[in-house]
Amino acid sequence: MDNLFEDNNFADKFSKFPGTRYMGSKNKLIPHILKILNEYEFDSFYDAFAGSNVVSYLFKTIGKKVITNDFLNFSYLISKSLIENSFEKLNEDEVSFLINTPNKQGFITKTFKDLYFDNNDNKFLDTVRGNIDLLDSEYKRAIALSALVRACMKKRARGIFTFTGERYDDGRKDMRLTLEEHFRENVISFNNAVFSNDKNCISHNSSAQNLVVETDLIYLDPPYYTPNSDNDYVRRYHFVEGLTKNWNGLEIQDNTKTKKFKSYHSPFSTKKETYLAFENLIQTYKDSIIVISYSSNSLPNKDELLVMLKKFKKDVNVHEIDYLYSFGNQNHKIGNNANKVKEYLFVAK
Ligand SMILES: C[S@@+](CC[C@H](N)C(=O)[O-])C[C@H]1O[C@@H](n2cnc3c(N)ncnc32)[C@H](O)[C@@H]1O
Repeated sequence: MDNLFEDNNFADKFSKFPGTRYMGSKNKLIPHILKILNEYEFDSFYDAFAGSNVVSYLFKTIGKKVITNDFLNFSYLISKSLIENSFEKLNEDEVSFLINTPNKQGFITKTFKDLYFDNNDNKFLDTVRGNIDLLDSEYKRAIALSALVRACMKKRARGIFTFTGERYDDGRKDMRLTLEEHFRENVISFNNAVFSNDKNCISHNSSAQNLVVETDLIYLDPPYYTPNSDNDYVRRYHFVEGLTKNWNGLEIQDNTKTKKFKSYHSPFSTKKETYLAFENLIQTYKDSIIVISYSSNSLPNKDELLVMLKKFKKDVNVHEIDYLYSFGNQNHKIGNNANKVKEYLFVAK
Protein backbone atom coordinates (compact mmCIF):
# COMPACT_ATOMS: atom_id res chain seq x y z
CA MET A 1 0.00 0.00 0.00
CA ASP A 2 1.34 3.42 -1.02
CA ASN A 3 -0.17 5.39 1.80
CA LEU A 4 -0.37 3.43 5.03
CA PHE A 5 -2.68 6.07 6.51
CA GLU A 6 -5.36 4.77 4.12
CA ASP A 7 -5.10 1.40 5.83
CA ASN A 8 -7.70 1.50 8.65
CA ASN A 9 -5.94 -1.13 10.69
CA PHE A 10 -2.72 0.85 10.75
CA ALA A 11 -4.45 4.23 11.23
CA ASP A 12 -6.55 2.88 14.14
CA LYS A 13 -3.53 1.47 15.89
CA PHE A 14 -1.38 4.55 15.42
CA SER A 15 -4.16 6.93 16.49
CA LYS A 16 -4.06 5.41 19.98
CA PHE A 17 -0.79 7.21 20.73
CA PRO A 18 -1.43 9.69 23.58
CA GLY A 19 0.28 12.78 22.15
CA THR A 20 1.22 16.02 23.88
CA ARG A 21 2.33 19.44 22.69
CA TYR A 22 5.96 18.50 23.07
CA MET A 23 8.54 21.01 21.83
CA GLY A 24 9.99 19.81 18.53
CA SER A 25 7.58 16.87 18.26
CA LYS A 26 7.43 15.38 14.77
CA ASN A 27 3.75 14.64 15.14
CA LYS A 28 2.78 16.68 12.06
CA LEU A 29 5.57 15.23 9.95
CA ILE A 30 4.69 11.59 10.59
CA PRO A 31 3.12 10.89 7.16
CA HIS A 32 6.20 12.40 5.43
CA ILE A 33 8.67 10.47 7.55
CA LEU A 34 6.79 7.24 6.96
CA LYS A 35 6.55 7.74 3.22
CA ILE A 36 10.25 8.56 2.87
CA LEU A 37 11.58 5.78 5.13
CA ASN A 38 9.25 3.14 3.70
CA GLU A 39 11.58 3.06 0.69
CA TYR A 40 14.42 1.64 2.80
CA GLU A 41 14.97 -1.83 4.16
CA PHE A 42 15.59 -2.15 7.88
CA ASP A 43 14.39 -4.30 10.78
CA SER A 44 15.61 -2.26 13.74
CA PHE A 45 14.95 1.45 14.30
CA TYR A 46 16.88 3.42 16.93
CA ASP A 47 15.30 6.74 17.99
CA ALA A 48 18.23 8.39 19.77
CA PHE A 49 16.29 11.53 20.87
CA ALA A 50 12.84 10.08 21.33
CA GLY A 51 11.09 13.05 23.05
CA SER A 52 7.33 12.45 22.93
CA ASN A 53 8.03 8.99 21.38
CA VAL A 54 5.61 9.59 18.52
CA VAL A 55 8.14 8.55 15.87
CA SER A 56 9.06 5.40 17.81
CA TYR A 57 5.39 4.55 18.21
CA LEU A 58 4.96 4.85 14.45
CA PHE A 59 7.74 2.37 13.77
CA LYS A 60 6.56 0.00 16.50
CA THR A 61 3.13 0.10 14.82
CA ILE A 62 4.58 -0.98 11.49
CA GLY A 63 6.39 -3.88 13.14
CA LYS A 64 10.01 -2.74 13.57
CA LYS A 65 12.22 -3.62 16.52
CA VAL A 66 12.34 -0.16 18.12
CA ILE A 67 15.05 1.04 20.48
CA THR A 68 14.55 4.44 22.11
CA ASN A 69 16.66 6.85 24.07
CA ASP A 70 16.22 10.26 25.64
CA PHE A 71 18.12 11.89 28.49
CA LEU A 72 14.85 13.02 30.06
CA ASN A 73 13.42 10.51 32.51
CA PHE A 74 9.78 11.31 31.69
CA SER A 75 10.35 10.68 27.99
CA TYR A 76 12.02 7.37 28.92
CA LEU A 77 9.03 6.38 31.07
CA ILE A 78 6.57 7.09 28.25
CA SER A 79 8.75 4.86 26.12
CA LYS A 80 8.87 2.13 28.79
CA SER A 81 5.06 2.21 28.93
CA LEU A 82 4.34 2.17 25.21
CA ILE A 83 7.41 0.99 23.30
CA GLU A 84 9.17 -1.55 25.54
CA ASN A 85 6.01 -2.69 27.31
CA SER A 86 3.87 -5.12 25.31
CA PHE A 87 1.20 -6.34 27.71
CA GLU A 88 1.03 -4.74 31.14
CA LYS A 89 -1.77 -2.31 32.00
CA LEU A 90 -2.98 -0.58 35.17
CA ASN A 91 -6.27 -2.02 36.45
CA GLU A 92 -9.11 -0.21 38.26
CA ASP A 93 -8.06 -1.50 41.69
CA GLU A 94 -4.54 -0.23 41.19
CA VAL A 95 -5.81 3.20 40.12
CA SER A 96 -8.02 3.36 43.25
CA PHE A 97 -5.09 2.26 45.37
CA LEU A 98 -2.93 5.06 43.93
CA ILE A 99 -5.56 7.73 44.46
CA ASN A 100 -7.09 6.68 47.76
CA THR A 101 -4.28 5.32 49.92
CA PRO A 102 -3.22 8.08 52.33
CA ASN A 103 0.50 8.70 52.73
CA LYS A 104 2.71 11.28 54.39
CA GLN A 105 4.12 12.94 51.26
CA GLY A 106 3.85 16.73 51.30
CA PHE A 107 6.85 17.87 49.26
CA ILE A 108 4.89 19.13 46.23
CA THR A 109 2.21 20.89 48.30
CA LYS A 110 4.95 22.72 50.22
CA THR A 111 7.52 23.42 47.49
CA PHE A 112 5.22 24.34 44.60
CA LYS A 113 2.47 26.12 46.55
CA ASP A 114 0.60 28.56 44.26
CA LEU A 115 3.02 28.02 41.38
CA TYR A 116 1.40 25.65 38.89
CA PHE A 117 -1.62 23.95 40.46
CA ASP A 118 -3.99 24.64 43.36
CA ASN A 119 -3.71 23.01 46.77
CA ASN A 120 -6.10 20.15 45.99
CA ASP A 121 -4.24 19.25 42.83
CA ASN A 122 -0.90 19.45 44.66
CA LYS A 123 -2.17 17.17 47.44
CA PHE A 124 -3.41 14.74 44.80
CA LEU A 125 0.04 14.76 43.16
CA ASP A 126 1.77 14.14 46.51
CA THR A 127 -0.49 11.19 47.30
CA VAL A 128 -0.30 9.50 43.91
CA ARG A 129 3.42 10.14 43.47
CA GLY A 130 4.11 8.55 46.88
CA ASN A 131 1.94 5.52 46.15
CA ILE A 132 3.33 4.81 42.68
CA ASP A 133 6.57 3.56 44.22
CA LEU A 134 4.54 0.82 45.95
CA LEU A 135 3.42 -0.79 42.67
CA ASP A 136 5.43 -3.92 42.07
CA SER A 137 5.75 -3.85 38.26
CA GLU A 138 8.15 -1.45 36.55
CA TYR A 139 5.78 -1.14 33.57
CA LYS A 140 2.80 -0.32 35.77
CA ARG A 141 4.89 2.30 37.57
CA ALA A 142 5.89 3.69 34.17
CA ILE A 143 2.25 3.90 32.98
CA ALA A 144 1.17 5.59 36.22
CA LEU A 145 4.00 8.13 36.02
CA SER A 146 3.41 8.79 32.31
CA ALA A 147 -0.30 9.35 32.96
CA LEU A 148 0.57 11.73 35.81
CA VAL A 149 3.03 13.64 33.60
CA ARG A 150 0.53 13.95 30.77
CA ALA A 151 -2.16 15.07 33.24
CA CYS A 152 0.13 17.89 34.44
CA MET A 153 1.09 18.92 30.92
CA LYS A 154 -2.50 18.97 29.69
CA LYS A 155 -3.63 21.15 32.55
CA ARG A 156 -0.85 23.71 31.93
CA ALA A 157 -1.27 26.39 29.25
CA ARG A 158 1.18 25.50 26.47
CA GLY A 159 2.12 22.35 28.43
CA ILE A 160 5.21 24.00 29.93
CA PHE A 161 6.59 25.15 33.30
CA THR A 162 8.62 28.25 32.40
CA PHE A 163 6.11 30.59 34.03
CA THR A 164 4.02 30.38 37.17
CA GLY A 165 0.34 31.12 37.82
CA GLU A 166 -2.36 31.05 35.21
CA ARG A 167 -0.91 33.25 32.48
CA TYR A 168 -1.92 32.19 28.96
CA ASP A 169 -5.11 30.56 30.26
CA ASP A 170 -6.80 29.88 26.94
CA GLY A 171 -10.06 28.73 28.47
CA ARG A 172 -9.62 25.15 27.30
CA LYS A 173 -11.69 22.56 29.14
CA ASP A 174 -8.41 20.85 30.01
CA MET A 175 -7.60 23.72 32.32
CA ARG A 176 -10.83 23.28 34.27
CA LEU A 177 -10.58 19.54 34.93
CA THR A 178 -8.92 18.45 38.18
CA LEU A 179 -5.64 16.59 37.98
CA GLU A 180 -7.45 13.53 39.29
CA GLU A 181 -9.85 13.66 36.32
CA HIS A 182 -6.95 14.13 33.93
CA PHE A 183 -5.03 11.28 35.54
CA ARG A 184 -7.94 8.85 35.27
CA GLU A 185 -8.44 9.74 31.59
CA ASN A 186 -4.77 9.34 30.86
CA VAL A 187 -4.46 5.94 32.51
CA ILE A 188 -7.18 4.81 30.09
CA SER A 189 -5.34 6.39 27.12
CA PHE A 190 -2.03 4.78 28.03
CA ASN A 191 -3.64 1.40 28.73
CA ASN A 192 -5.35 1.55 25.31
CA ALA A 193 -2.08 2.32 23.56
CA VAL A 194 -0.20 -0.73 24.93
CA PHE A 195 0.37 -3.46 22.34
CA SER A 196 2.89 -6.07 21.27
CA ASN A 197 4.47 -6.08 17.82
CA ASP A 198 6.24 -9.36 18.59
CA LYS A 199 9.62 -7.62 18.67
CA ASN A 200 11.84 -7.07 21.66
CA CYS A 201 11.67 -3.25 21.83
CA ILE A 202 13.95 -1.53 24.35
CA SER A 203 14.10 1.90 26.03
CA HIS A 204 17.20 3.72 27.28
CA ASN A 205 17.67 6.84 29.40
CA SER A 206 21.09 8.20 28.59
CA SER A 207 22.92 10.94 26.78
CA ALA A 208 22.92 9.90 23.13
CA GLN A 209 26.65 10.56 22.80
CA ASN A 210 27.36 8.06 25.62
CA LEU A 211 25.35 5.17 24.24
CA VAL A 212 26.15 2.75 21.43
CA VAL A 213 23.26 0.72 20.07
CA GLU A 214 23.28 -1.97 17.43
CA THR A 215 20.75 -0.95 14.81
CA ASP A 216 19.95 -1.07 11.10
CA LEU A 217 18.75 2.53 11.13
CA ILE A 218 19.39 5.42 13.52
CA TYR A 219 17.04 8.40 13.64
CA LEU A 220 18.62 11.60 14.96
CA ASP A 221 16.25 14.36 16.01
CA PRO A 222 18.29 16.35 18.54
CA PRO A 223 17.36 19.80 19.84
CA TYR A 224 17.78 22.29 16.98
CA TYR A 225 20.61 24.69 17.67
CA THR A 226 20.23 28.35 16.70
CA PRO A 227 22.36 31.15 18.15
CA ASN A 228 19.33 33.22 19.19
CA SER A 229 16.85 30.86 20.75
CA ASP A 230 17.15 28.48 23.61
CA ASN A 231 16.44 24.80 23.15
CA ASP A 232 16.56 23.80 26.80
CA TYR A 233 14.10 21.00 27.43
CA VAL A 234 14.74 20.85 31.17
CA ARG A 235 13.84 24.53 31.62
CA ARG A 236 10.46 23.91 29.95
CA TYR A 237 9.61 20.58 31.51
CA HIS A 238 11.49 20.64 34.87
CA PHE A 239 8.32 20.11 36.93
CA VAL A 240 7.25 16.85 35.26
CA GLU A 241 10.85 15.63 35.02
CA GLY A 242 11.32 16.30 38.76
CA LEU A 243 7.99 14.61 39.51
CA THR A 244 9.04 11.35 37.84
CA LYS A 245 12.27 11.33 39.87
CA ASN A 246 10.52 12.55 43.02
CA TRP A 247 13.22 15.24 42.82
CA ASN A 248 15.75 12.65 44.03
CA GLY A 249 19.26 13.76 43.15
CA LEU A 250 17.98 17.07 41.73
CA GLU A 251 18.85 20.31 43.43
CA ILE A 252 16.05 22.84 43.19
CA GLN A 253 17.38 26.37 42.63
CA ASP A 254 15.58 28.14 45.47
CA ASN A 255 16.23 31.58 44.06
CA THR A 256 14.18 30.83 40.91
CA LYS A 257 10.51 31.76 40.76
CA THR A 258 9.68 28.53 38.96
CA LYS A 259 11.66 26.36 41.47
CA LYS A 260 13.44 24.63 38.63
CA PHE A 261 16.58 22.57 38.98
CA LYS A 262 19.81 22.95 37.05
CA SER A 263 19.53 21.78 33.43
CA TYR A 264 21.27 18.58 32.37
CA HIS A 265 24.25 19.14 30.17
CA SER A 266 23.56 18.64 26.45
CA PRO A 267 26.08 19.28 23.68
CA PHE A 268 23.24 20.74 21.62
CA SER A 269 23.22 23.89 23.71
CA THR A 270 26.44 25.36 22.26
CA LYS A 271 27.52 25.76 18.64
CA LYS A 272 30.90 24.13 19.01
CA GLU A 273 29.61 21.08 20.85
CA THR A 274 26.66 20.70 18.47
CA TYR A 275 29.00 20.32 15.48
CA LEU A 276 31.18 17.87 17.38
CA ALA A 277 28.22 15.81 18.56
CA PHE A 278 26.89 15.45 15.00
CA GLU A 279 30.31 14.42 13.70
CA ASN A 280 30.74 11.84 16.46
CA LEU A 281 27.27 10.36 16.10
CA ILE A 282 27.63 10.08 12.32
CA GLN A 283 30.99 8.36 12.70
CA THR A 284 29.75 5.97 15.40
CA TYR A 285 26.76 4.91 13.29
CA LYS A 286 28.50 4.89 9.91
CA ASP A 287 27.44 1.26 9.34
CA SER A 288 23.73 1.98 9.86
CA ILE A 289 21.28 3.95 7.73
CA ILE A 290 21.48 7.44 9.24
CA VAL A 291 18.37 9.63 9.21
CA ILE A 292 18.47 13.18 10.55
CA SER A 293 15.61 15.59 11.14
CA TYR A 294 16.77 19.18 11.10
CA SER A 295 15.49 22.61 10.16
CA SER A 296 16.61 25.26 7.70
CA ASN A 297 17.13 27.90 10.39
CA SER A 298 19.47 25.80 12.57
CA LEU A 299 23.17 24.98 12.69
CA PRO A 300 24.92 22.99 11.24
CA ASN A 301 23.24 24.17 8.02
CA LYS A 302 22.15 21.88 5.22
CA ASP A 303 25.44 21.96 3.28
CA GLU A 304 27.52 21.37 6.39
CA LEU A 305 25.42 18.36 7.37
CA LEU A 306 25.71 16.99 3.83
CA VAL A 307 29.51 17.26 4.00
CA MET A 308 29.57 15.44 7.35
CA LEU A 309 27.38 12.63 6.03
CA LYS A 310 29.21 12.25 2.71
CA LYS A 311 32.46 11.68 4.57
CA PHE A 312 31.12 8.26 5.63
CA LYS A 313 28.21 7.49 3.32
CA LYS A 314 27.93 7.04 -0.43
CA ASP A 315 24.23 7.55 -0.89
CA VAL A 316 22.96 10.75 0.78
CA ASN A 317 19.53 12.29 0.11
CA VAL A 318 17.88 15.29 1.63
CA HIS A 319 14.11 15.73 1.58
CA GLU A 320 12.60 19.16 2.20
CA ILE A 321 9.27 19.56 3.88
CA ASP A 322 7.72 23.05 4.05
CA TYR A 323 6.53 23.53 7.54
CA LEU A 324 4.99 26.32 9.53
CA TYR A 325 5.92 26.10 13.19
CA SER A 326 2.93 26.37 15.44
CA PHE A 327 2.72 28.22 18.71
CA GLY A 328 4.59 26.41 21.47
CA ASN A 329 6.77 24.62 18.99
CA GLN A 330 10.28 26.01 19.34
CA ASN A 331 10.55 29.75 19.77
CA HIS A 332 8.87 31.30 16.76
CA LYS A 333 6.13 33.85 16.71
CA ILE A 334 2.87 33.48 14.81
CA GLY A 335 2.46 35.80 11.83
CA ASN A 336 6.17 36.30 11.45
CA ASN A 337 7.83 35.27 8.21
CA ALA A 338 10.67 33.73 10.14
CA ASN A 339 8.07 31.08 10.98
CA LYS A 340 8.33 29.62 7.54
CA VAL A 341 11.15 27.19 7.95
CA LYS A 342 11.88 24.07 6.01
CA GLU A 343 12.16 20.76 7.81
CA TYR A 344 14.86 18.56 6.34
CA LEU A 345 15.03 14.83 6.47
CA PHE A 346 18.51 13.61 5.58
CA VAL A 347 18.77 9.94 4.71
CA ALA A 348 22.25 8.47 4.33
CA LYS A 349 22.79 4.87 3.36
C1 LIG B 1 13.58 17.62 18.95
S1 LIG B 1 13.28 16.69 20.42
C2 LIG B 1 12.84 15.11 19.80
C3 LIG B 1 11.41 15.08 19.37
C4 LIG B 1 10.90 13.70 18.99
N1 LIG B 1 11.45 13.21 17.76
C5 LIG B 1 9.38 13.75 18.89
O1 LIG B 1 8.85 13.61 17.76
O2 LIG B 1 8.72 13.98 19.90
C6 LIG B 1 14.87 16.44 21.07
C7 LIG B 1 14.96 15.54 22.30
O3 LIG B 1 16.35 15.34 22.61
C8 LIG B 1 16.48 15.19 24.02
N2 LIG B 1 17.90 15.45 24.31
C9 LIG B 1 18.56 16.63 24.35
N3 LIG B 1 19.88 16.43 24.52
C10 LIG B 1 20.05 15.08 24.58
C11 LIG B 1 21.18 14.24 24.71
N4 LIG B 1 22.40 14.77 24.81
N5 LIG B 1 21.01 12.91 24.69
C12 LIG B 1 19.77 12.37 24.59
N6 LIG B 1 18.65 13.11 24.49
C13 LIG B 1 18.80 14.45 24.46
C14 LIG B 1 15.48 16.17 24.60
O4 LIG B 1 15.11 15.77 25.88
C15 LIG B 1 14.34 16.07 23.59
O5 LIG B 1 13.37 15.16 24.02
